[in-house]
Amino acid sequence: MFPNVPLYAGFAIQRGGNMPVVRRRVRVLCAVMALNVFVCVLVTVSWNFRRDKSGQQKIRIPSKRFWQQQVWSKSFWNKEQQRLDFIYNPLISSELSIELPDWLDDSGPADPCQPDHRVSAQIFNFTSLPQYFQDFLLYMRCRTYPMLINQPHVCDDEPFLLLVVKSLIPHFDRRQAIRETWGRTGVFANKTVATVFLLGSSSPEDHLPDLLEMLGHEAELHKDILQWDYRDTFFNLTLKEVLFLEWFSQTCPHTQFILKGDDDVFVNTLQIIDLLTGLSVKKAKDLFIGDVIRNAGPHRDQKLKYFVPESVYVGQYPPYAGGGGYLYSGDVALRLHNISQQVVLYPIDDVYTGMCLKKLGLAPEKHAGFRTFDIAEKQRSNLCVYRSLMLVHSRTPQQMLTIWPWIIDPDPDCQ
Ligand SMILES: *[C@@H]1O[C@H](CO)[C@@H](O)[C@H](O)[C@H]1NC(C)=O
Ligand SMILES: *[C@@H]1O[C@H](CO)[C@@H](O)[C@H](O)[C@H]1NC(C)=O
Ligand SMILES: *[C@@H]1O[C@H](CO)[C@@H](O)[C@H](O)[C@H]1NC(C)=O
Ligand SMILES: *[C@@H]1O[C@H](CO)[C@@H](O)[C@H](O)[C@H]1NC(C)=O
Repeated sequence: MFPNVPLYAGFAIQRGGNMPVVRRRVRVLCAVMALNVFVCVLVTVSWNFRRDKSGQQKIRIPSKRFWQQQVWSKSFWNKEQQRLDFIYNPLISSELSIELPDWLDDSGPADPCQPDHRVSAQIFNFTSLPQYFQDFLLYMRCRTYPMLINQPHVCDDEPFLLLVVKSLIPHFDRRQAIRETWGRTGVFANKTVATVFLLGSSSPEDHLPDLLEMLGHEAELHKDILQWDYRDTFFNLTLKEVLFLEWFSQTCPHTQFILKGDDDVFVNTLQIIDLLTGLSVKKAKDLFIGDVIRNAGPHRDQKLKYFVPESVYVGQYPPYAGGGGYLYSGDVALRLHNISQQVVLYPIDDVYTGMCLKKLGLAPEKHAGFRTFDIAEKQRSNLCVYRSLMLVHSRTPQQMLTIWPWIIDPDPDCQ
């Protein structure tokens, strides 16, 4: 390793000609010792240096800031999320005005509700995506739509349970069946229950008959309709969720619990209230239960309803509760409202809520009483079964009216 170092004292001794032998030997000894110390230092330094390179022993101070080393995703949603993560990162956002990384250099529309025409250039094969998917991407950044019908007094009594039903304008019969059955408002089992229906609007390009006048009458009569001015489609359900959370945090912040579901589910409101009254304070605060789906990911088959291409999203889904219906606390709803600002809208609403929960450090809990994939066919006509269920999908208005009397006035022979 060190070819120039004379390690053999005998070699040096022979070169000194005139000096007395003893002095020469002392000098040579000193020289050899000095050399040994030098070699020792060299070896130690080089050894430390090698350990350092493998990054195991010492904390290395990076020469570049870590976010500059981040590889930006090729998938559009992931990329947008990286942008939000950057903006909301408390450690680095204070420096935002000083230095913006290149990939954050944002040429999207100044008004987030104008169509974002970058997407056609940034998303591979954009024009071959289904039209509804293209629409979603064009308006992905827009979260504010005017409210057309509001019910500012729904929560004046600070309900124990708020039933929130995702509906569509033409579903008058479903809403009426819910009002007459599991969505009845007032005091129930000594708890205050309130109900609202969430609606968007119909867009001319969807060629739907104009039912607005009828909706106006319905809202007047029942005072339970919330409507916003956006096109009410499957891929805009996440928007429905975000707009609801916004409304909730302003109108109903003192509500204790929320059950959010579709207008074709049957809910055993009595069982729900029973479950909620038995909760500990800690459990009640962080409550989020439903029919939890784990280890799922995007479907890549364009023919499926839940199709999401790789050019838009890569990665697994966090655990999420099926959107048919889930139960959570008002406190979680307020936290979800906050955190949703930091999560890019995802076209599938229940997955989106799972993403928000994950960011909050919460996980939805599975409860066997939530049956968003229905119960076994042969059990469906056995009305005793419904007594122990929390929620089941799907039931028609007529079935709801059939099942409900069994819930409130059960057959004592039911097990
Ligand atoms: C782009 O879309 C077209 C039409 O759907 C499809 O035939 C083609 O395979 C796609 N290209 C790639 C590389 O996926
Ligand atoms: C009903 O609720 C009120 C207030 O929560 C409580 O004071 C009262 O004891 C309850 N009544 C019954 C019968 O549980
Ligand atoms: C969602 O609603 C907005 C506003 O009406 C509309 O521009 C957009 O096309 C809708 N998106 C989908 C996927 O329908
Ligand atoms: C929501 O965020 C605001 C502002 O950051 C904060 O003051 C408030 O406490 C948060 N609310 C919840 C429920 O986390």
